[in-house]
Amino acid sequence: MKLSAMVAQQQLIVCVGSGGVGKTTTAASLALAGAYAGRRALVLTIDPARRLANSLGLTEIGNTEHRIALPPEVPGELWAMMLDAPSTFDDVIRKVARDDATREAIYNNRIYRSIAGSFSGSQEYMATERLFDVMQSGRYELVILDTPPVKNALDFLDAPGRLARFLDKQIMKRLLTPHDEDGGFFGSRLLAGTTAVVYRLLGHIFGDEFLGDIASFFALFKDLYDGFRERHESVERTFKDARTSFVVVAAPTEPSMEVAGFFLTELRARGLPLAALVANQVHRASFTTPNLEAVFGARARALHPAAAGPLLARLGAAHLRLADLASLEARRVEALRRQAGPSVDVHVVPRLATEVHDLASLAALHRFLIG
Ligand SMILES: Nc1ncnc2c1ncn2[C@@H]1O[C@H](COP(=O)(O)OP(=O)(O)OP(=O)(O)O)[C@@H](O)[C@H]1O
Ligand SMILES: [Mg+2]
Repeated sequence: MKLSAMVAQQQLIVCVGSGGVGKTTTAASLALAGAYAGRRALVLTIDPARRLANSLGLTEIGNTEHRIALPPEVPGELWAMMLDAPSTFDDVIRKVARDDATREAIYNNRIYRSIAGSFSGSQEYMATERLFDVMQSGRYELVILDTPPVKNALDFLDAPGRLARFLDKQIMKRLLTPHDEDGGFFGSRLLAGTTAVVYRLLGHIFGDEFLGDIASFFALFKDLYDGFRERHESVERTFKDARTSFVVVAAPTEPSMEVAGFFLTELRARGLPLAALVANQVHRASFTTPNLEAVFGARARALHPAAAGPLLARLGAAHLRLADLASLEARRVEALRRQAGPSVDVHVVPRLATEVHDLASLAALHRFLIG
């Protein structure tokens, strides 16, 4: 599916790719294109570069949805929200906790505090949590999800399931009921005995207070399990929905192309709707031989012939290097296009002369993304 059709029709677009390739930039630019197409669009962004955050008004706003002022001729709306892992985690607890007392007990639990800050994959997990909220709210016609730079490229796609697995009922049951009498395997005397020993050992190492924290942490979380699972299943359904599209963003470098290829394979294997590929920051070179007039204009004629010769030679060498790079990158993009197959639209975006940090430069990308 072409990106132009995507921003006009889809409900959710997820931008994935390796670090620094332009996921955040692409996500913001697509959301802006959605607004131009008349839709109420939200970009859910992670760690935008400082200057982009500034122009999106995302500096002090934190975790709230924020409307960005657009020129009056733009028919739609552009909203942005930045993710901030610990406070979002608190939000989730607030939503799934049964009552105020449970919620406060969780907030004050030291194990929770350390998990909320450092739960591995928490940023990926939180992205999907926020996604759940905004999709459920029905406030937006188009949501664009930026994803974190993932070390393991799959962290993100597996994130919804991670906490649910972490809180898996069976594991908790074992931890919570070391002397379970239900007669099942886990209730067998041998295991109960082992668990009790582990508990005593942990208490010895970390102190009984810590152990109390762990026990109450698991007791508190037991009740939240169903809420988490429901949310996670809903996000998984959304990911597979026909009105969701995944966009793989890649820079034309060897490692980034490799990650992009990996995403192509993994999205397919997971049955996720991969629809387009963005080759971003691609170098362009004209293939005409450089001449001094073209570069220096009228000033070229004022050059002394003894200076003009070596200057032209150096310009020629620099141009050759750029042309070589451009054709190498073009070959890489072609290889990726072949790997992606005909069902995936490939959009090539050149490396602009300046960084993309304001609405004008985000709109300048539309020429290449939207056409
Ligand atoms: N087509 C482009 N031309 C010029 N600069 C670009 C282009 N696309 C992105 N950039 C710049 O590259 C930098 C990285 O872009 P961006 O933050 O969007 O990448 P990212 O994939 O989100 O990175 P991270 O993985 O760290 O989140 C930014 O400074 C951005 O302005
Ligand atoms: Mg980013």
